[in-house]
Amino acid sequence: MEETLERWQSRRAFILAVTGAAVGLGNIWRFPYMTGENGGSVFLLLYIVFVLLLGLPMMMAEILIGRAGRRSPMQALAYLAEEAGRSPHWRWLGLFGAVTVFFILSFYSVVSGWSIEYLVDSINGGFVARSPQEIGASFETFLADPLRMTFNHTLFMLITMSVVAGGIANGIEKLNNIMMPLLYVILIVLGGYATTTSGFGEAMAWLFTPDLSAISWQVVLNAMGHAFFTLAVGACALMAYGAYMPEEQSLLRAVFSVALLDIGVALLSGIAIFSVVFSHGLDPGEGPGLMFVTLPIAFSELPGGQIWLGAFFLLLLVATWTSSINLAEPMVAMLVGAGWRRGRASLLIGALVWGVGLLSVLSFSTLAEVHWIGEMNFFTLVTTVPTDLFLPIGGLLIAIFAAWRMSPEAASAALGASGRGFGLWRALVRYVSIPLTLIVLLSGLL
Ligand code: PHE
Repeated sequence: MEETLERWQSRRAFILAVTGAAVGLGNIWRFPYMTGENGGSVFLLLYIVFVLLLGLPMMMAEILIGRAGRRSPMQALAYLAEEAGRSPHWRWLGLFGAVTVFFILSFYSVVSGWSIEYLVDSINGGFVARSPQEIGASFETFLADPLRMTFNHTLFMLITMSVVAGGIANGIEKLNNIMMPLLYVILIVLGGYATTTSGFGEAMAWLFTPDLSAISWQVVLNAMGHAFFTLAVGACALMAYGAYMPEEQSLLRAVFSVALLDIGVALLSGIAIFSVVFSHGLDPGEGPGLMFVTLPIAFSELPGGQIWLGAFFLLLLVATWTSSINLAEPMVAMLVGAGWRRGRASLLIGALVWGVGLLSVLSFSTLAEVHWIGEMNFFTLVTTVPTDLFLPIGGLLIAIFAAWRMSPEAASAALGASGRGFGLWRALVRYVSIPLTLIVLLSGLL
């Protein structure tokens, strides 16, 4: 297969695209509830450590493979393996990534659908003058209604796949340019509001006072999985974006700003959400519903709350949209690389993901008690195993390929760093990121 000629139109476009992929449900929805379920400050601390020691260097590894291969993930791996005289089986890593993003996208779309529902509700004034109990109860009612959820899930899949079908640079670039900065503004306003609530002090103490008694291998494993998830690393999805990276751009710098932004967004939403949780005596370990219950409560107390809430869900939707586009891209790119037309490939992938997503929809009603592994119903399974297990395994293999297997010349050219910079990155990946991931994976599993 030939090299792809498609390119992001500017440096900024690439950074925005990667930020768009990274910032999404992981920061605003998953980070707070995972922190709540995994002991608070310890989880936060581990997450930051993993982002810096694993996420960042592996993100560079992943993008540089895409950039050096200039093909869809599977084909890029096959090409680079052949070039360096390595086993052709490395290409299956691209397929493994596609399986991972497939399952992630299937629940991602369902949860993003919840944002659509909440966007419409807040525009209609559905949360005005409601008590926290009523707001909690209305979330339960919504979950128990598979038809409404399916409708929103369908809508979200449609908007995602139509952008993917339209090709990469045009659709995504334009969207990202306008929407991402707006999201930060709203989050900062929310954070500012949080400082005025009675739970702010408690939230800060809970998030930032290290409490090592809460630590266990399970917590460490979850934090590692989350670091991969939130940075969008380990599924070959950023690899697909790397293929469209312009020739003259520093990968190091781009990736650093993305990681900092990602941590910043997670912290802001954590502070905002936990201030509300503690102001109202809610349970931080509430699980996936946490954001959907706390934020309407917070906003219902703000002057003009409805408008803020509507704006928040709109921007969250955009953030999840840009992430879901990234989730879909490697699967579509794989088919396009095999000769499919983009439109058809998008249609097929969209339909398959949509179908599997229905299992997540039904996990809150009909299939709630159907357990797939242990106590996990489909939604719990699909929100944990692909992220906490598949992403670290994928990231590990990607790192091994980039730091040990592919030709160092190709790697350093694609990283945009030679000499000491390249040596430093490679040593970090070889002797810190890879062993650390292995240790956590093995200990977490045993
Ligand atoms: N990083 C995205 C988020 O935080 C999710 C994602 C995971 C996107 C893996 C692409 C690949 O919401």
